[in-house]
Amino acid sequence: MLKHDTIEKNLGLMVILVIIVISGGGLAEIVPLFFQKQTTVPVEGLKPLTALQLEGRDIYMREGCHVCHTQQIRPFRAETERYGHYSVAGEFVYDHPFLWGSKRTGPDLARVGGRYSDDWHRAHLYNPRDVVPESIMPSYPWLFSDKVDGEITPKKMLALRSVGVPFTDEAIASSAADVDGKPEIQALIAYLQQLGTVMSNRR
Ligand code: HEC
Repeated sequence: MLKHDTIEKNLGLMVILVIIVISGGGLAEIVPLFFQKQTTVPVEGLKPLTALQLEGRDIYMREGCHVCHTQQIRPFRAETERYGHYSVAGEFVYDHPFLWGSKRTGPDLARVGGRYSDDWHRAHLYNPRDVVPESIMPSYPWLFSDKVDGEITPKKMLALRSVGVPFTDEAIASSAADVDGKPEIQALIAYLQQLGTVMSNRR
């Protein structure tokens, strides 16, 4: 029998035992993750974004929309009543990087797709106060004149495909032509209008 005394006075032994304890604890936490499909299997019906939606997503990141808006609905009544079905892991399998955000200066946008018309979004993004007088959201007038450059769109899609987003060869081949020269506002709204729609038939 090892006395605790002996362990405490023998640094080498102590280190070995500490390593054994930490490894055991680590394995107990990590091994189950390998068998957990929930975070790696897309929810039914989840499709990769179109090239235009993908460019819209990049504009969303560039403009810092995620700094004021979350894309994650927590499973609390107050949230699901307001925003719809709580977010589930399988919705985000193709999202690189995640845009969950961490602060809600504005409302959550996880299920904003289809909630407003394209025209509403245009008016709102041009000058939020035209449609919501008390809004503190910034205006984004340049999105109406700046155009999407499709030159590296296929490369973005290839990069995302290498981490598991199932873009088809056809989608990649036509992507540059699909987006090139389109107003940025069109791409951004295309992105917004699909947000959360994969779960819209679930309550
Ligand atoms: C400084 C913080 C801030 C930033 C940055 C911001 N927003 Fe907002 N957003 C708000 C606030 C506050 C509201 C609520 C008032 C309103 O509707 O304008 C809002 C509302 C919205 C709504 C309506 C949501 C709903 O359910 O009614 C959408 C859509 C939206 N923002 C999209 C965007 C997009 C896209 C961007 C980036 C181009 C963006 N926001 C950037 C603060 C922000």
